[in-house]
Amino acid sequence: MSNLVVVGTQWGDEGKGKVVDLLTAKADMVVRYQGGNNAGHTLVVEGRQFIFHLIPSGILYKGKKCLIGNGVVVDPEVLIKEMENLKKAGIAVDSKRLSLSERAHIIMPYHRAIDIAREAAKGRDKIGTTGRGIGPCYEDKVARCGVRTIDLTDPEVLGEKVRANLKEKNFYLSKFLGAEPLDPAPILEQYLAMAETLKPFISDVSLELDGALKKGGNVLFEGAQGTHLDIDHGTYPFVTSSNPVAANAAIGTGIGPNQLHHILGIVKAYTTRVGAGPFVTELDDETGNYIQDRGKEFGATTGRRRRCGWLDLVVVHDSARLNGLNSLAITKLDVLTGLERLKVCVGYTVEGETINYRPSSMKRMGGCKPVYQEMPGWQEDISKARTVDQLPKNARDYIKVIEDKTGIPVSIISVGPGREDTIVVKEPF
Ligand code: GDP
Ligand code: IMO
Ligand code: MG
Repeated sequence: MSNLVVVGTQWGDEGKGKVVDLLTAKADMVVRYQGGNNAGHTLVVEGRQFIFHLIPSGILYKGKKCLIGNGVVVDPEVLIKEMENLKKAGIAVDSKRLSLSERAHIIMPYHRAIDIAREAAKGRDKIGTTGRGIGPCYEDKVARCGVRTIDLTDPEVLGEKVRANLKEKNFYLSKFLGAEPLDPAPILEQYLAMAETLKPFISDVSLELDGALKKGGNVLFEGAQGTHLDIDHGTYPFVTSSNPVAANAAIGTGIGPNQLHHILGIVKAYTTRVGAGPFVTELDDETGNYIQDRGKEFGATTGRRRRCGWLDLVVVHDSARLNGLNSLAITKLDVLTGLERLKVCVGYTVEGETINYRPSSMKRMGGCKPVYQEMPGWQEDISKARTVDQLPKNARDYIKVIEDKTGIPVSIISVGPGREDTIVVKEPF
């Protein structure tokens, strides 16, 4: 038995979905542990593209169980839509294939309304959230007034909670944010109807996982977002409202931390970020545009153009510590093909000092300048490479620099969006 956590080491969109899909071949179960439909995980299998926001990226495999853990915030409308889309694609999702934790918190219309109105009110100071109600839903979880999946199965409890919450939310929405108040009746009607669709999937995910682990099954934990969007360890306040770091795979699913055997960090071969916040290696030039174009760097959830820059190894080095990474998967290496010179950031200079970690103060981080190591690029098409030997020497050297600077070995190299466009250096499972 071996369990593996897939975690983003940057600011999300590293290619976690592709790697999870690939590794599901060796897993019995795939489980999401945090985040919600702010995530957009893209897989390309036999030329068909799938984007998942809530359903774990292992769902394309028959006979493998996918689970949504207690740490996830679930918008039932999005989940049902995702299941319908899969059905249209010929993949029927039943309770043998998918479970939804009884303890997961539910995104309500007032969460979305608050998220959107609050961002609008912040104007230029906005965080650039996905507007999906993620932050306000986690706020209610911590304030102990959230609606959980299990509440959807009890009309009385749901009615009481929604009415009580709306008293407060409507005051805040209308009096403070200048937005429209919401009526509880249509919300209850809609959510109770959706509950009927979801009932067969609702389960105690912690018990299910425990059963599988006791039988020796392999579990794959699928992180959403990335380490530097972590509410505790990221570029606060330009972060999401959950803990993407690997340790949360235990809390967000209800298993012990001793069950997390291998932590696989996903590293995009360059850096991207959607939304606001400091970005030391950002490129506002032709090279940035080249990467953005070739990498098709548009958000899988909101369609926003992703900001692009050189690979920031200070960020990845921090992620090695914060997650306890065992190995790395380097993705989108093919995107760098054609650039004459490549740079990777190996330190920051700030106020006359050179540092090799990301400062906590955003003011200080805003003042950081990158220290670059430069190297020659490669011009050869690498998208058909299936072994390390088939990569040009300069590409191999680029990988070597990542390994040297982070101290973590590379187990996977991805050279294209398809499942097959992959070099497995060492099986991480
Ligand atoms: P995630 O959120 O971490 O799952 O990543 P996204 O799906 O948001 O973004 C990654 C994008 O890059 C998707 O469109 C993938 O299909 C694509 N992708 C993943 N790996 C590779 C790769 O090695 N090369 C190229 N060219 N595209 C890739
Ligand atoms: P995946 O799983 C990239 C970013 C948003 C915003 C900040 C807060 O696909 O890697 P939120 O809606 O979570 O309150 O927004 O976090 N963000 C992501 N950026 N990939 C993601 O997910 C993200 N999920 C949230 O753009 O800056
Ligand atoms: Mg994404």
